[in-house]
Amino acid sequence: MCGIVGYIGNLDSKEILLKGLEKLEYRGYDSAGIAVKNEAGVTVFKEKGRIADLREAVDQNVIANTGIGHTRWATHGVPSRVNAHPHQSASGRLTLVHNGVIENYAILKREYLSDATFISETDTEVIVQLIEKFVNDGLEVEEAFRKTLKLLKGSYALALLDDQNDQTIFVAKNKSPLLVGVGDGFNVVASDAMAMIQVTDQYLELMDKEVVIVTKDYVSIQKLDGQEVSREPYTAELDMSDIEKGTYPHYMLKEIDEQPAVIRKIVQAYQNESGDLTIDGNIISAMGAADRIYIIAAGTSYHAGLVGKQFIEKMAKIPVEVHVASEFVYNMPLLSENPLFIFISQSGETADSRAVLVEVKELGYKALTITNVPGSTLSREADYTLLLHAGPEIAVASTKAYTAQLAVLSILANVTATSLGLSSTIDLGHELGIVANSMDGLIDAKEEMEAIAREYLSTTRNAFFIGRSLDFYVGLEGSLKLKEISYIQAEGFAGGELKHGTIALIEDGTPIIALATQEAVNLSIRGNVKEVVARGANPCIISMKGLETEEDRFVLPVVHELLAPLVSVIPLQLISYYAALHRDCDVDKPRNLAKSVTVE
Ligand code: F6R
Repeated sequence: MCGIVGYIGNLDSKEILLKGLEKLEYRGYDSAGIAVKNEAGVTVFKEKGRIADLREAVDQNVIANTGIGHTRWATHGVPSRVNAHPHQSASGRLTLVHNGVIENYAILKREYLSDATFISETDTEVIVQLIEKFVNDGLEVEEAFRKTLKLLKGSYALALLDDQNDQTIFVAKNKSPLLVGVGDGFNVVASDAMAMIQVTDQYLELMDKEVVIVTKDYVSIQKLDGQEVSREPYTAELDMSDIEKGTYPHYMLKEIDEQPAVIRKIVQAYQNESGDLTIDGNIISAMGAADRIYIIAAGTSYHAGLVGKQFIEKMAKIPVEVHVASEFVYNMPLLSENPLFIFISQSGETADSRAVLVEVKELGYKALTITNVPGSTLSREADYTLLLHAGPEIAVASTKAYTAQLAVLSILANVTATSLGLSSTIDLGHELGIVANSMDGLIDAKEEMEAIAREYLSTTRNAFFIGRSLDFYVGLEGSLKLKEISYIQAEGFAGGELKHGTIALIEDGTPIIALATQEAVNLSIRGNVKEVVARGANPCIISMKGLETEEDRFVLPVVHELLAPLVSVIPLQLISYYAALHRDCDVDKPRNLAKSVTVE
């Protein structure tokens, strides 16, 4: 949610900042801005809309070697040019970009800035005005910055320019992600290494409540009290081809297509020298010692957790509860005696999940994070991490991270079961190989998926996904995919629940996408299909080979029944993609959303 960049060096900063913001657009895209500093002072360009709109607004004649930039997902104040960052202090001396939410901004405004005039509705403007107030009281900018940071409650990644100092960008972080990239004769600031990978692959991680003084020749990381922190940069292993669309029209389609390769990569990454799937012994011991596992996640990752529960319970025989992070944090259930917490998060930055992690760490419990982003907040703060190896996921709608989460969860469950000496294990390396091959076939079936989307979804106002057992959980994910990118009101229902109320929604022609991949419930889900058809629904049954009937619209290749969600989700992702295209929606950047939800 919101992305920030900064550059200080010898080159003109405008293009570097704009390119960086383009790479961060997945974090928010309702307005954007840059501020650049040269001998003449600071110049701000900002626009409502996308980075492309900002690019048009930037005066190419302004040449400046220092700058900061921001792409916004609105929290305080509507998307508008006035509310877009950067924000400036009253005198215009100080210019600030901010990712995060300041919870006590209204109190600070009342206590310290009652005489000040504000031009935006943002919490950010309070920060920059407050820094200037302390400068006016006689402090140096750096001191005023620190004094302000000590007063802030909430999350922030900040980059500040001082009109009277063209040597420095002042940076700080708390809870929101931020990195400083190190170059030869220049340094950069970015919410995500992806933004600046074209100029450097060397990055310094920042911890909460750190302040960083960035000049073109050095970076000084300090604690809030001024104490220096020494830290070595790490190499960000990002391949440019991972973050470019290449010949694909959309990142989402590219990421759907990458899924077989991701599954193969996961198998490789988790194989030991003898070819067996393996997981760090400390994690497996923690799993074995747990009397109950609590999976915490949001959105698609929560849906992966629901399937993961089945993997763990069926293979490793450990009871699992799955919770939506934003609910768990305010309404914690009674916990078992020896719980283990598993956080599932593609980004590793989701604020709701992090809030739970902070809470359970305070209670002294162990936590494992399953994430796609090494070094992300949830990874750093948990005791253990398992990586997804899916490569950057840029489309807002998650696809390859979901299947990667399922694959890693299946490995975790199976390795735990093996270590516990249970007979419920499967030959998972082999089975995941079959899954990857089946995925290859499915992503080749795009024409068929496009036809299904056209036939069922091009004009409908709603659609329902039904299934039982694992198919129900995949239906929830299918409905989320469809609603978030096509804006069709879509819901996933457990087949057996229909007649307890929701069947009232069925009208003539209502599309029902039914999954039938599980033998034990094949007959009962087909019974549910008959019930909705009798009330006028238009059914699209997606079944698995061996369970199919003549009425089925698409038949999936056979995979191990427990792993069916890894393949049955692919038609649903593709159908959603084509439905969004047919309805002229912005597939990669759906309205009102952002990829990384770093506010609670
Ligand atoms: C939907 C989607 C979201 C995320 C959710 C959690 O396509 O991507 O529902 O799954 O915001 O994000 P992470 O996994 O980064 O914690």
